[in-house]
Amino acid sequence: TVLVVDYGAQYAQLIARRVREAKVYSEIVPSSMPVAEILAKRPCAIILSGGPASVYAPGAPATDPELFTQGVPVFGICYGFQAMTKALGGDVANTGGSEFGRTHLNVLAPGALFAGDTELIESRQVWMSHGDEVTRAPDGFVVTASSAGAPVAAFEDTARGLAGVQFHPEVLHTEQGQQLLENFLYDIAGLKPDWTDANIIDEQVALIREQVGDNRVICGLSGGVDSAVAAALVQKAVGDQLTCVFVDHGLLRAGEAEQVETDFVAATGVSLKIVDARLQFLDALAGVTDPEQKRKIIGREFIRSFEQAERELIASTESGPPFSFLVQGTLYPDVVESGGGTGTANIKSHHNVGGLPGDLQFSLVEPLRTLFKDEVRRVGLELGLPEEIVWRQPFPGPGLGIRIVGAVDASRLEILRRADAIARFELSAAGLDRDIWQCPVVLLADVRSVGVQGDGRTYGHPIVLRPVSSEDAMTADWTRVPYEVLEKISTRITNEVREVNRVVLDVTSKPPGTIEWE
Ligand code: XMP
Repeated sequence: TVLVVDYGAQYAQLIARRVREAKVYSEIVPSSMPVAEILAKRPCAIILSGGPASVYAPGAPATDPELFTQGVPVFGICYGFQAMTKALGGDVANTGGSEFGRTHLNVLAPGALFAGDTELIESRQVWMSHGDEVTRAPDGFVVTASSAGAPVAAFEDTARGLAGVQFHPEVLHTEQGQQLLENFLYDIAGLKPDWTDANIIDEQVALIREQVGDNRVICGLSGGVDSAVAAALVQKAVGDQLTCVFVDHGLLRAGEAEQVETDFVAATGVSLKIVDARLQFLDALAGVTDPEQKRKIIGREFIRSFEQAERELIASTESGPPFSFLVQGTLYPDVVESGGGTGTANIKSHHNVGGLPGDLQFSLVEPLRTLFKDEVRRVGLELGLPEEIVWRQPFPGPGLGIRIVGAVDASRLEILRRADAIARFELSAAGLDRDIWQCPVVLLADVRSVGVQGDGRTYGHPIVLRPVSSEDAMTADWTRVPYEVLEKISTRITNEVREVNRVVLDVTSKPPGTIEWE
């Protein structure tokens, strides 16, 4: 494992992703973790991330020099580069050379970091974001690059397996950033690109067997990719100790419940129990408008439904071990955005993380908890799941409940379901399914505007289209859907869904917007 020490910036997740793209497994640890504990995890290399602090600020996370004397290769990025410099006796100063955004880098010597660089020595663009700069490298290091604001922008001491850069190789704006990271991983740290999808599966199967033992397991299926892949992994691990439960909470899109039965059961032959909890969820959500409250209610009612399913399963089967485990398709970004990452803010409580009730009786099995969506898709394909499941666009567990801005009720759900079905149909018909990461369709139920339809005045609700493109849902851009397609969707929705008299397009990236409206 490559450990990414998180100094409190958004970049740590991205670094971990890039390392995994290089087929080396990586995990994030907080910078508050003592060196002894970090080393006890037996990392094969360590990457120190960027962070918002100045190394001289009071309370700034320091780096213990011990970290560099154990023979573990270390790569410092931005703040991590400066913290490394300070710990090893170099100089960091604030001489006013701060640089933010695209910056020109002069590569002074190829060294190991810039080896294989096609634009070697010639200047190139990198992404910088720093106030302080390294003014003198520690003894034993060769300085391999500089920029206008950073006299020492990259250094390395390959004999000790140490290197660092002031810029951010993990962001796409840094030219050949991935190559540079790989040079560190393969050439300086001597690692091999052997973290493959097959390995992920073997490792998870072993872990699931160890965790679950002879007990029986329930898996909540949502119809989405994540829960399907989680279920398939658990099935591979423990076979028919697994029963899948599909909770129809009434917040689904048109045709969704049927699809789970046909696609997933056909592909895996898993035993499936369907729970009709439509009234239960609607009752619990009645009159609730606050998004976090909705998410928590939905998270709680999901668990109550699983408990109910468990009681029914026990009553209907021969006596056997209890169903003490619940499988969830929780992904890494769900954990991070629910505030489960270290030092990260709670942006929203994903129903299966921050929305779980305190009195949960099940132990959780979450085989995808460390993976990103694209990794989950690859695992799904490797497990033999059909493309229709693996390439399904993400749909949140709380469903249409968080796509109605305002209180949720049956008639509002019906309006949204009809509008959503039209948008989905037209986007698919235009062949845009793979270009669009997902397209939430949102009903602004408490907003009304005046329109004219036929000869009369209308006072209806707006529908928002939110098509986004993304790599992993951590960041996203709005998708430039062709005008003709938008026109068709708008015309059809306003003609066919009487309560809607306006269709609007959301042109906000994430950040600052999130993908869902709630
Ligand atoms: P946001 O809105 O946070 O969404 O930008 C990021 C991704 O996560 C999905 N999402 C959820 N998925 N339970 C889920 O299973 C949730 O509570 C939840 N909230 C958001 C969202 O659709 C997008 O793909």
